[in-house]
Amino acid sequence: MANARLTAIGMAVPRKKVPNAYFESIIDTTDEWIVSRTGIKTRYHVEEGEFTSDLCVRAVEDLVEKYPTSLEDVDMILVSTVTPDQPMPSMACRVQHRLHMSRAGALDIYAACAGFSYGIVVAKGLIAGGLHKKILVIGAETLSKVTDFSDRTSCVLFGDGAGAVLIEADPTGNIGACITGASGEGGSDLYISGYASTIDGHELKMNRCIVQNGRRVFKWAVTTVAAEIKNLLAKNNLTLGEIDWFVPHSANLRIIEAICNETGFSMDKVLESVVDFGNTSSASIPIALYNGIQSGKVKHGDRIMLFGFGGGLAYAGTIITW
Ligand code: COA
Repeated sequence: MANARLTAIGMAVPRKKVPNAYFESIIDTTDEWIVSRTGIKTRYHVEEGEFTSDLCVRAVEDLVEKYPTSLEDVDMILVSTVTPDQPMPSMACRVQHRLHMSRAGALDIYAACAGFSYGIVVAKGLIAGGLHKKILVIGAETLSKVTDFSDRTSCVLFGDGAGAVLIEADPTGNIGACITGASGEGGSDLYISGYASTIDGHELKMNRCIVQNGRRVFKWAVTTVAAEIKNLLAKNNLTLGEIDWFVPHSANLRIIEAICNETGFSMDKVLESVVDFGNTSSASIPIALYNGIQSGKVKHGDRIMLFGFGGGLAYAGTIITW
């Protein structure tokens, strides 16, 4: 069975930075409320005509710049998103075409905020099965396209962005045992009512937006993630004390704090992306990991627990050694 190694990472966000003050100007809210309930200070939004595939391409370009590698021998592209430019072609096909990866298969994954973690699980499995050797896993979203800007309980939460990692067959694998699961009965607590699309370059604004029962999602996330982290650690024969960094999905700083309280993990060892980027769904984990590595916090040999959770309600986690 071939081992899989996460070898490189890149990220991208749109140029437009949106501070909490923007929401003070369009809805009844305050910077103080948003920061105290969510931790979020800023997020980035795409401009008209800018799409998820654009962010995917930029994240991969950043990966190649930071960790020079050829894209020619990439043999599979997995893109996790709930905000594709359009339902067909897939984002993975668009990325394959735009970055000239003619030898690569292409597949999108729909597992919302757990999608990037699911992508790593799938990539590891494809490599272990001997089917593929060099896989790009991308988490990318333009959630601002599906945000109801009149709903003050949700519109402040979401941001746009993308993160990309390369996973390669390598005898020195660094991806540990994985865990996946879902509480499908909670699907109606967090969903998108439709989607955006383009025809001849014109964006169609369909009746689509994120709808959520924030309190129910909050409660589910804290109880489920705290319990499943114990299972993930057990599967890897590790204790919490042996984990150097925890990268949960960055939905809300208060959810992360509650998970840490519940499990006894220190917030000092959390890598998050929610404060500066908002909840970027599929992109939140790679963006947090990227910034942890770029800032020098994450050292070679560190053990990092990734845990995605969200719409579905779905979750997936694994432990990598950087
Ligand atoms: N600004 C000011 N007040 C707001 C507000 C805003 N942006 N949004 C809601 N409020 C008000 C509510 O109307 C309510 O007022 P009321 O008591 O007069 O009715 C009050 O704040 C409390 O609302 P509530 O929904 O109970 O707040 P909360 O503490 O549960 O926080 C969330 C709301 C959405 C931040 C929180 O539930 C949450 O983060 N949930 C998880 C959502 C999430 O992360 N989803 C994605 C998961 S992948």
